Amino acid sequence: MKNQIYIETYGCQMNTYDSDLVQSILINHGFQMVDSPNQASVALLNTCSIRENANNKVLNRVHEIKRVSSDIKIGILGCMATNFKTELLDNKRLNIDLIAGPDSYQALPSLINDAIDAQIQEKPFDVTLSEFETYESIYPAQKDGANAWVAIMRGCNNFCTFCVVPYTRGRERSRSISSILDEVKLLEDQGFKQVTLLGQNVNSYRFGNDTFIDLLDQISSKTSIKRIRFTSPHPKDFPIELLQLINDRPNICKQIHVPLQSGNDRILKKMNRSYTQVEFLSLIDTIKSTIPTVALSTDIIVGFPTETHDEFLDTKHVCETVMFDHAFIFKYSERPNTRAALKFPDDVSADDKTERIMALIEMQKSHSKIKNSQWVHQKQDILIERIDDHQLVGRNDANVLVYCPKSNDLIQVGDLVPCMIQSATPHGLKACVHQQ
Ligand code: 5AD
Ligand code: SF4
Repeated sequence: MKNQIYIETYGCQMNTYDSDLVQSILINHGFQMVDSPNQASVALLNTCSIRENANNKVLNRVHEIKRVSSDIKIGILGCMATNFKTELLDNKRLNIDLIAGPDSYQALPSLINDAIDAQIQEKPFDVTLSEFETYESIYPAQKDGANAWVAIMRGCNNFCTFCVVPYTRGRERSRSISSILDEVKLLEDQGFKQVTLLGQNVNSYRFGNDTFIDLLDQISSKTSIKRIRFTSPHPKDFPIELLQLINDRPNICKQIHVPLQSGNDRILKKMNRSYTQVEFLSLIDTIKSTIPTVALSTDIIVGFPTETHDEFLDTKHVCETVMFDHAFIFKYSERPNTRAALKFPDDVSADDKTERIMALIEMQKSHSKIKNSQWVHQKQDILIERIDDHQLVGRNDANVLVYCPKSNDLIQVGDLVPCMIQSATPHGLKACVHQQ
């Protein structure tokens, strides 16, 4: 039981990827991964710090695991490890046994051994942020499923004032194209039809003279992966050549995430986003004219410090103008150590934040319904993600969820299945398998 490890993941896809990376490192060092904390001597929680509720979820879970398995050692990985190391180590009630930040996973085998070793009094931790660690040649222990994540760069240099990521994950650094291509080819051999390239600023990828365009071009032309996606990009790095490449290549999905955050110039400036409303809208025009079938999604924060109702209306105006296919909308959540937390009081009331988020969610629902309706009566390839008793659940190229009655038992998760789209809701599409 001594070397049995359980891991649980919170937050973004980068954490999902990192948990697979951690498993790969641990298995290579003779540890065994188990499916529940009851079977483990160490439970690792790979944590997120982006908003306050993500934090609280993890703290509750630590208590829950300790209640059920009193002997278990608990390790905190990920963004909370870097951001709250001291608080976590000093908190006697939580009684955390080890801490490792996102750049310290190669040290995990020895940190775990130290945590298990009764002779060592000091709680082991390593939250050093590296300018170089990219886990270049460690391939994650990918599971089955339809999509494989591939981290191409890590960290962020943008310092949006609300965001904790530059502090928890450090500076931007990219992996070489050759190591990324090797990983994608391995995934192709395992039967994956879709890869999603991951990075906190994925389109700022740069390795030597190689840019994100070079990388996409090579994955698209040198592998037989059917669907290539990427997330999450920054609006500042969308040269026209990138958009043209996306439009030209059938295996690069015509779906782009363009995080708006706010539609008001004063707030954008306070957020340290590097564009104005006009520049954002002009980028959207260029994207739409270069990739006519593009599906667009976005991230929005309501209630950033000092945001007035009229300034919020600017965000609403941009959403009305762009008509995003999908939007992730958040209430501003003050994060310790960020520039916004140090400089601006969190002064928009909870009621105002709720009113603003509800207004945007309502509007987005009607936009998603309209956008999803454009696929009705079209034949589309659906990548199957899940098979329930009676239905197949998958996604089209635009990343919209598609539900389809199960027509036979031959279809498996990961298959690309031609379907006829029949109807649309704000949340997805209904379809049936297209009989040839
Ligand atoms: N409060 C609310 N939302 C945030 N995000 C990042 N930091 C915060 C915060 N402090 C959102 C941004 C980002 C997405 C991943 O999370 O919209 O694009
Ligand atoms: Fe955070 Fe901004 Fe970097 Fe995205 S670009 S990770 S929001 S600092």
